[in-house]
Amino acid sequence: MAVPEKVVTNEDLAQIVDTNDEWIVSRTGIHQRHIAGKDETTASLATKAAARAMAMTALEPPDIDLIIVSTSTPEHFFPATACLVQDALGAGRAGAFDLSAACTGFIYALNMAAQSIRSGSIRNAIVIGSETLSRMINWEDRTTCVLFGDGAGAIVLEASERPGGILSCVMRSDGSGGELLSIPAGGSRYPTTVETLQRKMHTIHMNGKEVYRFATHVMASATREAISRSGLRLSDISLIIPHQANLRIIEAAARGLKLPMDKFVVNIGNYGNTSTASIPIAMCEAVGAGRIRPGDNLVMVGFGGGLTWGALALQWVEPEKRARPALRRRRSILIWLAHLRSFFRRVYRRIEGVLWGGRERGTK
Ligand code: ACO
Repeated sequence: MAVPEKVVTNEDLAQIVDTNDEWIVSRTGIHQRHIAGKDETTASLATKAAARAMAMTALEPPDIDLIIVSTSTPEHFFPATACLVQDALGAGRAGAFDLSAACTGFIYALNMAAQSIRSGSIRNAIVIGSETLSRMINWEDRTTCVLFGDGAGAIVLEASERPGGILSCVMRSDGSGGELLSIPAGGSRYPTTVETLQRKMHTIHMNGKEVYRFATHVMASATREAISRSGLRLSDISLIIPHQANLRIIEAAARGLKLPMDKFVVNIGNYGNTSTASIPIAMCEAVGAGRIRPGDNLVMVGFGGGLTWGALALQWVEPEKRARPALRRRRSILIWLAHLRSFFRRVYRRIEGVLWGGRERGTK
């Protein structure tokens, strides 16, 4: 995982909009959030998170087959943020694409990667959830600006003969609720104009009450469905990693599933809602705290814009091989060298363009 250094507390926000710590904590459970600095972007956070995830395995950048970045705040429309991560890591053999399913994106992306591995078309994948939502927030709108934060989390999936990994997944959507949570302008429907900027249509618009109602409705049912499809029972599940949008939504899911809150990973207090990054960040923290052990059955469950929602049951498996210190050093050097490689490829492309102009290489 990777989060920006800068922390913005509720008190800090009370200096810029009409809000207060008591309202934010009692309605959402959020105490602070991390906000990207000038040089931190969706791709830079994603690259850091991916490099840290890779460090848990014996894989090196040239071994990576696929990079998926789930994000609603991509670096650009295109190139895909995943391609920037591929370049920064020096993952020269990897395919790379972005996936857009709002806060549910990480669950969708994990399932896509797992199915590609199961089909035999790839051996491994890095799946990243990364967001810089702070760049899309209307900082004058107290109903949204207090909710969101920036960050990234990543996981490496590898083919293995050992049992476990992704057991089942439920992916759902309902586009009729699209306008409940959206960034209306900046796309092809409303290209950016002075008017869209003046009307702040390029920032997050949300009908909080409706999204809340929808979320409390789907969290428990999606969890149950994923568990039943996996062949497990609710009692087999050690931990649930929910999307961190609102503590009250997680509490409602716990009531719906008749489970105690200690079965849920909750870290919204420190990070706010980091959209598709929230599940992998919570997962990384739970692994770091020793709450997830090999063989544990887990459920990830999320909801978000689209509307989308989904849940995924998995059995946690530790990497077959871990990197020895010498390999870890070599990998850090390879990632560092990726910057040079990228620079020289650009220079080479330019020289080639001058030499060959618009002609095919090798023709006169
Ligand atoms: N500080 C102080 N008061 C506020 C603030 C604030 N930051 N924001 C709103 N209020 C006021 C409102 O103006 C309203 O005042 P009024 O009664 O005088 O009109 C009052 O507080 C209550 O507002 P509600 O909207 O009714 O508050 P509610 O209890 O519904 O909580 C919240 C709002 C936290 C947004 C809640 O609806 C929610 O969490 N919804 C789900 C949001 C969500 O999960 N979004 C992310 C989806 S994931 C993704 O894809 C990004």
